[in-house]
Amino acid sequence: MRLEPVRVDRELHEGGPSSGAFYLGDTLEMLPKLVARYGGAVKVIYIDPPFLTGERFAMRVRVGEAGWRASVGSLRLETFCDDSGRAAFLGMMRRVLAAARALLRDDGMLFVHIDYRTHPYLRLMLDEIFGEDNFLNEIIWAYQSGGRSLKHFSRKHDVILFYRKGAKYDFHVEDVMEAPAAPRSNHMRRHVDPDGRVYRSIRSNGRVYTYYDDDPVAPSDVWTDLGHLQQRDPERTGYDTQKPLKLLNRIVRCASREGECVMDLFSGSGTALEAAKLGRRTFVGVDRCPLAVNLVRRRLAGSAYDIVFADAADGGAAPPACEAEVSDGVGFYRVALRAFAPAPGSLPEGVAGLDAVDNWSVGYLRPDGYRCMASFARSRREPALRLELDAPAYDGELALCVGDVTGRSFYYRIARTPGAQ
Ligand SMILES: C[S@@+](CC[C@H](N)C(=O)[O-])C[C@H]1O[C@@H](n2cnc3c(N)ncnc32)[C@H](O)[C@@H]1O
Repeated sequence: MRLEPVRVDRELHEGGPSSGAFYLGDTLEMLPKLVARYGGAVKVIYIDPPFLTGERFAMRVRVGEAGWRASVGSLRLETFCDDSGRAAFLGMMRRVLAAARALLRDDGMLFVHIDYRTHPYLRLMLDEIFGEDNFLNEIIWAYQSGGRSLKHFSRKHDVILFYRKGAKYDFHVEDVMEAPAAPRSNHMRRHVDPDGRVYRSIRSNGRVYTYYDDDPVAPSDVWTDLGHLQQRDPERTGYDTQKPLKLLNRIVRCASREGECVMDLFSGSGTALEAAKLGRRTFVGVDRCPLAVNLVRRRLAGSAYDIVFADAADGGAAPPACEAEVSDGVGFYRVALRAFAPAPGSLPEGVAGLDAVDNWSVGYLRPDGYRCMASFARSRREPALRLELDAPAYDGELALCVGDVTGRSFYYRIARTPGAQ
């Protein structure tokens, strides 16, 4: 049966224990709505904005079963163009940072991830908006990616500016202790305790201080132990500027507790949202790149979250013809996806038919949006498109959603006669 396209501006997923929302749209345009909805309620905000590199960034997207079986991505699709110019960038950041302050709880914290290009400007701007007294750290995230310059020292670190909103803030370094890099041997005597553990001691002002070699230590503001994502790192999503989960885990863990809200106003591939999900916290992400939607569906799977489309879910494209069959089970409907036919020219060359499907789901159209009940996304483990999904019987009109390889989402009503096959 041929399905009727419908417009949807919110997709709802069930799950737990973490929950949150992802907004597809322009952060700047959405700030007033975000402040109205989350003002004073966010515990930690992480911002990894464009760096003013002048580059165009892309995502390597796998297409169809063959693309998911191969070791490299099949398409390179632009995610964002980082060439806004300094004045426009700083104008945007001034509004984003002022809104970030309004979004934070009084005991909340802000992390702004940048590099040498914008660091001096944003440090001054943050001192002005948050107050110099609320500056906590200039964190150096150092990595050893390939490529060495012979014209100057190679630039191998980013800067993360860390501010609190107010004097009483809720920082937990004990949750991010790290293994010691090397034993503290300077001028200390070495001992072995009855359990075989090595410790050092030193006498100072009449007191003896002891330190075990394997005691965890609190991280300093120079982070060299986290590394960066290697080309073939299994964590890689294909999104050019993706940050490592370990980095976001450290940030989320030291600054938030279970159930507290973590927000990322330029969430890209969704690393901060995944870190918050794993820590059983609440997350809110915003990005205007449609490809982020397909990644969010994978990275947030299992939690309760909404995708809110401030920008049209289908990117303004005409909905492709879609065909499916539905059969009744006991307490569920089985939906078989038969055809998805994007119009010629609406997708990159060589992508057609069901190969254009990156993920799909079945659910119900309800007054609050499309409630997803069962979903499938291609993966390296399951590259072939699963063609049948079962939706438990529920209130609302049966529907399906197709996420195509370019990040557009198309929704269709599945008209059915009760009891009919
Ligand atoms: C450096 S990337 C973030 C990467 C992310 N931290 C990750 O781990 O994947 C910057 C992101 O900002 C988004 N972006 C740039 N300008 C934006 C705007 N005005 N509104 C919303 N998103 C924007 C881009 O689409 C991009 O995904």
